[in-house]
Parts: sequence; structure tokens; C-alpha cells
Amino acid sequence: MSTRMSSHSPIRVGISGFGRSGCGIHAATLALLPELYSVKAVFDPLPGRSADSPQPGIAAHASFDDLIADPDLELIVVASPNKWHARQARAALAAGKHVLCEKPFGFTTADVDAMIAAARSAGRILQPFQQRRYEPDFVKVREICQSGLLGKITHVRIAWHGFGRRWDWQTLRSFGGGQLYNNGPHLIDHALELFGPADPEIWCDFKNSLSSGDAEDEFKILLRADHAPTIQLELLATAAYGDERWRICGTAGGLRGNADRLDWKSVDWSAMPARPADDRPTPDRGYNGEKLTWREDSWTPAVQADAGAGAAPAQQPVRDLYTDLWKTIREGAPQVITPHDVRRRIAVMEACYRQRCIPLPEGTLQ
Ligand SMILES: NC(=O)c1ccc[n+]([C@@H]2O[C@H](COP(=O)([O-])OP(=O)(O)OC[C@H]3O[C@@H](n4cnc5c(N)ncnc54)[C@H](O)[C@@H]3O)[C@@H](O)[C@H]2O)c1
Repeated sequence: MSTRMSSHSPIRVGISGFGRSGCGIHAATLALLPELYSVKAVFDPLPGRSADSPQPGIAAHASFDDLIADPDLELIVVASPNKWHARQARAALAAGKHVLCEKPFGFTTADVDAMIAAARSAGRILQPFQQRRYEPDFVKVREICQSGLLGKITHVRIAWHGFGRRWDWQTLRSFGGGQLYNNGPHLIDHALELFGPADPEIWCDFKNSLSSGDAEDEFKILLRADHAPTIQLELLATAAYGDERWRICGTAGGLRGNADRLDWKSVDWSAMPARPADDRPTPDRGYNGEKLTWREDSWTPAVQADAGAGAAPAQQPVRDLYTDLWKTIREGAPQVITPHDVRRRIAVMEACYRQRCIPLPEGTLQ
């Protein structure tokens, strides 16, 4: 894809937090979009971190306040640990910067509301980083579901199954760690896109099975509403035999698969005889049954797929999100993923923790 879009200069970026995400996702991807973005500065409290930049000549600020006071910067990427997101986003907006904020986009809806208010009063763009909304397998799943090919969607299961231990800050509640705030934002985002506009009733369960910290490393969530598919989300750390990521059931067929391949099949009920309910015993004492003619199809992505549960995300969705953000900041295009949209996702996560009486992390606006 060509990134040459207009003669506008690249957006000048500062990154807060230069770890797996700040360096490995954001700086690494922005280096591939030199006509759209230029990373000018970073802040990370860990000595030496800032020196690992994939691009030369990047300033390392001594504090977050110095970063957001840098007059050369237009956009601050908040890629610090979770507990800093909402307050750093608000401070950067108040300093007159556009902000892209990593997931989770705050811990509570109150966090998100305060961020939205800060963006509104500063007149700046506040962009949630929900890059997996652009993942090719998800885009295809949503397209098939919305096409009507599978009929009315009845059940959705999204499974991120893995087997393994973690012992970093993402396992600690004091950092806002735990899988709900870590990978939950991705699953819940996909789920609500497929669920539709209804307010879901929520059931959830958490376990800390293998991680060394005190936060959950596994969750199950069930979302239901009248006239919406029932959606089951499963993120497991003890699935030695993992299931497929996607399993969709509809009244005319189904879909299953992973990021690297999807299969679906459907039946054309209009070509079948009508079957009015019949209260008489079946003449041959048999069960109802009929031969179905399935239409089958499959899909594989044109670009590199994410390798599965817990793997580093593929780069194309990140590029796509940043390309859309550039159009918003430079050309005034509407945001594709808005803070209000993501507020709904945060509401589900907040409701899950409250339902299980898990204290919300430090730094939360209640
Ligand atoms: N969107 C995604 O797919 C994705 C993937 C990975 C991580 N993330 C998110 O990125 C954020 C960072 O996670 P990570 O995996 O890069 O962690 P990490 O530990 O690799 O990096 C975090 C960095 O932030 C620094 N830091 C600590 N306190 C800070 C502060 N107050 N201000 C600025 N920097 C600070 C640390 O020194 C560290 O270098 C998390 O919120 C995580 O959820 C998102």
C-alpha cells in the first residue's frame, strides 16, 4: 500500500513507555510510515531504554512532563504500563497534544469520560489503540456474519487458548495487570462488534492458574441479550489442547477457524421443503431428519497473520490504524474507532470486575 497521501508533513510523535509496545509495536511500525509519522522523542523511566530506538536521532526526555512539554511534538503515544494510561492521556491532552492511548483505554468508564472531556476541552484527537479491530481474520468474520450468509447469528465463541506461565507486571493487580485488562480489550472489542448495539447481560469467571502474580491469567465471559447472539469469550492459560479462535453458529450455517484460515458452510433453506410442526407420532417411529446441501468456502489472509494466543500482534493492523489516524489528524477524516466506542468495551470490563468483587486498580477514577 502506498503511504503517499498529500504534501502534509509527517506527524511528530513522542512515545511514553519504550518497552514491548512503545518500541516493538509503535516505534517499529511508525518507522515503516516515514511519510506519515516521525518519532522525535521518548520517555521511559528505565535507564537506557530510550537508546534502543529503531530510528536514530530520537530525544530521550527525563520525565513525562518534559515529554508533553516538548513543543516539537504533536502526538503522544501512551504505551506505559496500564495504571498510567488515563492520567498520562489526560495530561498530554491538557498540554495540547493529540493522544493515542494503548489498551486498556482506562480502567473504568469514569476514566474514559475524563479523557474524553480533556480531549474536548483541548480540541485534540484522542485515539484508542484497538489495532486488532483491523485484523484480517476478524474483518472477514464480521463481513461473513453481516452478509446474512449464515442466517441469524445465534452463538459466537472467541477462544484465545494457550498454555504457559507469565511473571511480569501484567500479572500484578497493582499495575492494572491481569488478562482482562491485558488481552481482554481485544476479545471484548471483537465480541461487541459482533454483538450489536444491545446492552449485554454479563456473566464472568476469573482464575489465576499459572501466573506468578495476584491477577487473573484466565477468564470466561458470557454476553447475552434478546435479539443478539450469545457470545462466549474464553482466554485460557491452561489449554494444553487449544481450540480454534472462532466458532460462529447461525440459523443457516457456521464458521470456524483461526487467524491463518477460516472455513464456513451454509445451507439455503429456501430451496428446502417447508416443515410445519406436526403433532402426530412419526409414521416410522423415526426422528426428524433431512439431507442438507452445504455450500462451503474458506479464506486465508493475504498478509502475515498473528500467530495466536498471546503472540505479538502482526504489523499490518497497526499500520492500518495509524494510516486512519493520520487522515483524522491531517485531513479531518472521522475517527474509525472512537473513544465512545471503546467506552462500551471498558464498561464490560468494569462490570466483570465489579461482579466478581475484584478491586479496581490503583489510579482508577470511580
Ligand atoms: N495493543 C497491543 O497489542 C499491545 C501489545 C503489548 C502491550 N500493549 C500495551 O502496552 C503497554 C505497555 O506494555 P508493554 O508490554 O510494552 O510493557 P513493557 O514492560 O515491555 O514496557 C513498559 C515500559 O514502560 C516503562 N514505564 C514504566 N513506568 C512508566 C511511566 N510512568 N511512564 C512511561 N513509561 C513507563 C517501563 O520502564 C517499560 O520500559 C501496556 O498498557 C500494554 O497493555 C499493547
